[in-house]
Amino acid sequence: MIKKICIGSDHVGAELKPKIIEHLKDIGYEVTDVGAYNLERTDYPIYGRKVGELVASGTFPLGIAICGTGVGISIAANKVPGVRAACVSEPYSASLSRQHNNSNVLAFGSRVVGSELAKMIVDAWLNAEFQGGRHQRRINELNAEDTRDDVIFDQLVENGKNSKEE
Ligand code: RB5
Repeated sequence: MIKKICIGSDHVGAELKPKIIEHLKDIGYEVTDVGAYNLERTDYPIYGRKVGELVASGTFPLGIAICGTGVGISIAANKVPGVRAACVSEPYSASLSRQHNNSNVLAFGSRVVGSELAKMIVDAWLNAEFQGGRHQRRINELNAEDTRDDVIFDQLVENGKNSKEE
């Protein structure tokens, strides 16, 4: 089966992005780059939104977003309902962001991590799987937030209070 992923960055992330794309191709991914395609000044919300929309629509199961810190572009991606973007700077959080939070967008900063650490972060993220179980209710709560469904949200929170899980 073809493994597909989309990736976007602003101008600050645009230097690191080709190295990540090359790495993704090396490990068997078909990669779609939504820009920025050069180092000309631009705005991270454009690319966070593009990656977020492609993931939320189901066009791509996963996406990667890079800016200077990873913060701005993750905030932008998280504005799209259905997106759970994790901004991380080490592999442990990358892995846990999938296992516990079912993150579907990975964000990091080109001014924060070097290319080798970024590749380790990407690998940790891609190799991890959502664990479901006790984490599923929290994801359902996030989904209720996406649609601002207070009734469902409150019900889920009530269920959580009775749960004995961590
Ligand atoms: C651009 O100067 C910079 O603010 C951007 O790449 C990012 O770090 C924002 O969060």
